[in-house]
Amino acid sequence: MNRLAKMLAGTFLAGAGTAHAADLEVTHWWTSGGEAAAVSEFAKAFNENTDHNWIDGAIAGSGGTARPIIISRIIGGDPMGATQLNHGRQAEELIEAGLLTDLTELAEQQGWKDIVNPPSLLEACTFEGRIYCVPVNIHSWQWMWLSHGAYDAAGIPVPSDWNAFIESAPKLQEAGIVPLAIGQQSWQQRGAFDVLSVAIAGVDAWRKVVVNRDVGAAMGPEYQNVFAAIETARQLAADSNVQDWNQATNMVITGKAGAQIMGDWAQGEFQIAEQVAGEDYTCLPGLGMNEVLDTGGDAFYFPVIDDPEVQKAQLELASTLISPDVQVAFNLKKGSLPVRGDIDLSAANDCMQKGLDILKAGGILPSGDMNLTPDTQTQIEDLMAEFWSTDMSAADAQAHYADLIRAAE
Ligand code: GAL
Repeated sequence: MNRLAKMLAGTFLAGAGTAHAADLEVTHWWTSGGEAAAVSEFAKAFNENTDHNWIDGAIAGSGGTARPIIISRIIGGDPMGATQLNHGRQAEELIEAGLLTDLTELAEQQGWKDIVNPPSLLEACTFEGRIYCVPVNIHSWQWMWLSHGAYDAAGIPVPSDWNAFIESAPKLQEAGIVPLAIGQQSWQQRGAFDVLSVAIAGVDAWRKVVVNRDVGAAMGPEYQNVFAAIETARQLAADSNVQDWNQATNMVITGKAGAQIMGDWAQGEFQIAEQVAGEDYTCLPGLGMNEVLDTGGDAFYFPVIDDPEVQKAQLELASTLISPDVQVAFNLKKGSLPVRGDIDLSAANDCMQKGLDILKAGGILPSGDMNLTPDTQTQIEDLMAEFWSTDMSAADAQAHYADLIRAAE
């Protein structure tokens, strides 16, 4: 039923005791071209498939900007109807305070435990045995995006891994092209560090440090190589004078930069620019060094609101977000992988297909947001902001990082 017919029906039948439409304010930080195109698929499905209305609460800026706004509104008694957060430990304090709706009954009715793949996504929504969010995608940071236009202009082939990229940098610079694009924001600098940790130190050393908090491994030779790689990367990114992640992606899209380390939400920007994976750009999962995905991503949480109509609308939204057709429509535009293994993704492009193949092969890692508290993540971001933006030595940065791992809860 389209919105006009719905409104007319609602007006005419309002006195007949039908369910009243609830206006549901939904907050998120998806404001780039690709992100906006993707989230509009959620809004369209909710408005068309239910009697309720999606009131868009987009918050400009990154998650680091939006999360404090979202969390303070919920704690301050001015909750939205639903909100995006990253699944993992970001909502722990809100859950402990009893401020988020328990979705366990809905999840059991709809069999989310059998639907959601990999199961770790739903585990990241589970706290003390109860489910508090609906996962909507898998986003992996473990990607590098390379511009065919830039490499054509430099007259050299597109690199197949991080080491070959480093070797290609002088030729890019000779052609007046910035080798590595990165936005000057700490979450991007921390993300690039996380990705280089897996690519350079390897999965075993990464797990020892990030999952097992092994300080000796954090100070070990594998991580020495990581910090040396970042010293090199910061030189190659020295002329990347942009702020937002999608501005850095645009440098790759327009051939002003050779490459960007960024999560696969970057795909949404290439799509909006009508660029084709494998023809206009190349994606390297795990930077071509260790082909893995981290199962980061997004989920929606529903603040407790004492209004039966709103509560009904919240559960209908949760059901809409995980439904098969909506999962396909949203994830194809978002550049992420769906949370369901039972849907047809034949429309997936080269890069998404690479991701699906890695997922099927089980090459997955828990995301940083699943392992470390927001407090530790912020401290690592502050360290990386300093390390990427100053002449701080690799040795000092590594020692400081090891201290943060030692103190991590
Ligand atoms: C991440 C989020 C992605 C994408 C990215 C950049 O935290 O999971 O969906 O939006 O931020 O904004």
